[in-house]
Amino acid sequence: MSLTLGIETSCDETSVAVVEGGRKVLSNFIHSQVDLHQEFGGVVPELAARDHLERLPRLLDLAMEGAGTKPADLDLIAVTRGPGLAGCLLVGVGVAEGLAAAWSKPLTGVNHLWGHIYAAMLARPDLEPPLLGLVVSGAHSDLVRMPGHGRFEVIGRTRDDAAGEAFDKAARMLGLGYPGGPALDRLARQGDRTRRPLPQPSLPGLEYSFSGLKTALLYRLRDLPEPTEQDRADLAAAFEHSVVESLLDKLDRALGEERVAEVVVCGGVAANTLLRRRAAAVVAGRARLTMPPLELCTDNAAMIAAAGHFTPRLGGEAAPGSARVDPSLGWGA
Ligand code: KG4
Ligand code: ZN
Repeated sequence: MSLTLGIETSCDETSVAVVEGGRKVLSNFIHSQVDLHQEFGGVVPELAARDHLERLPRLLDLAMEGAGTKPADLDLIAVTRGPGLAGCLLVGVGVAEGLAAAWSKPLTGVNHLWGHIYAAMLARPDLEPPLLGLVVSGAHSDLVRMPGHGRFEVIGRTRDDAAGEAFDKAARMLGLGYPGGPALDRLARQGDRTRRPLPQPSLPGLEYSFSGLKTALLYRLRDLPEPTEQDRADLAAAFEHSVVESLLDKLDRALGEERVAEVVVCGGVAANTLLRRRAAAVVAGRARLTMPPLELCTDNAAMIAAAGHFTPRLGGEAAPGSARVDPSLGWGA
């Protein structure tokens, strides 16, 4: 069985993993920089890049030891090459290139968005394309068709904010700080969405838009100069409901148009409690739904190793130098 070392440093998680056969996680160590960025209310790119560099050696040791793997056992090194923060990506790719040269191993640069989809392959050993994917993260809300390994066609995207970005901004308005998504999720559990309802975005086709909803929340909060804890929880629940139903409304529509047996909902926002529950209900009886477990929804290196394992075979042998950094990489290879 082939062994892949994965390295992820695209944003504010440093992660190193070893994956067997693209399906089995032998180790997956993740360091979150939440504490580092907390006081700034968001990710500071320079601090993030420096911290990745400081953390990677220890995480590498942990991942190799945790998997019981020696460098000689590895078949491939896979590293995120984009999209992400330029300085952060450079750190990961630089370290991966160094390891590939020192250990004489092939190296492949991985698209982070592909990684989120491949997280589902780790969760479900028999999952294969074709599939329909909803990738919801801090920077993306994309509906994609995946006809085969390493092939992606975007059929829906957001016109403005991504779902995770919308959650983070709403959380800040509600005084929840950074990272906002998980905090808003927790607060929403205490709220009643019907008490202070918010509009549900609706655009034609498969496009998303969350900026109007954000403004609606801002106005609601202006009308409530001293919101109680219950008001904030109710608004969190209403906001979460609108985002989740909007995401699933388009997934529902896409499912009506596409003949697919497999649906994957993934990315950091797929950790959301309501989205997990409602996605299961929307897809039930029409296709098989796979949502990676929480630790594989948010950024991690195991998903990068999996994507690296399944995709270099398409373009021939992975070779050193194939991991060019591209911060604005879309869904391309
Ligand atoms: O995929 P990810 O870890 O990083 C990116 O590639 O962007 O996604 C991070 C996003 C953040 O916006 C975060 O607030 C959101 O995922 N998120 C959540 C939850 N957990 C993470 N949003 C809503 N509910 C959650 N439980
Ligand atoms: Zn991500």
